[in-house]
Amino acid sequence: MATTTTVNGIARTLNVEPEMPLLWVLREQLGLTGTKFGCGISACGACTVHLDGRAVRSCVLPVSATEGKQVTTIEGLAQEGMRHAVQQAWVAHQVPQCGYCQSGMIMAVAGLLAANPAPTDDDIDRSLTNICRCGTFVRVRAAIHTAARGGATS
Ligand code: FES
Ligand code: FES
Repeated sequence: MATTTTVNGIARTLNVEPEMPLLWVLREQLGLTGTKFGCGISACGACTVHLDGRAVRSCVLPVSATEGKQVTTIEGLAQEGMRHAVQQAWVAHQVPQCGYCQSGMIMAVAGLLAANPAPTDDDIDRSLTNICRCGTFVRVRAAIHTAARGGATS
C-alpha cells in the first residue's frame, strides 16, 4: 500500500513496502542523500530528520509511520534561501570536520532548540546523543549556545 507524506513541503505518494525505513525512501526513492546511514540501529544519529518538527532517526522509522505527516530533511531546513539559525551557527563556529555526521547533528540540534530554546550544558548532554567520530562535540556545544542566543557568538 502506498504511503502519502509530505517531504520538505512537497506531497509525495510513496509506492514502497510500508516497513521500508524512511532513510532508504529518502535516499533511494527521493534522491535526498543529505541524510546519512551510519549504524542502522538508532545508535549514531547520522540519519536524523524531523517528523512533524520532532527529531527522529529515520533508519528505524518505517515509512508507514509518516503517513499524513510532515518530514523535513537537511535539504529542507533552510527557508526561503535563509539558513536556519543552527546552520548559521555551524558556519560561524566551523563545526564540521569530515562532515559525515553533521546533517544528522544539525537536524537533532534544530529539534532540540525547537523544544528547548535555551538549553543548558546538562540539557545538551542529556538530549543530544548523536555520535561524531571526528570529535566535534566542543564546537557543537558552542554553536548550540550561539544558535540559542540568535546568532551572537559571545
Ligand atoms: S543510521 Fe540511524 S541512528 Fe545510526
Ligand atoms: S564531523 Fe566527522 S563524523 Fe562528525
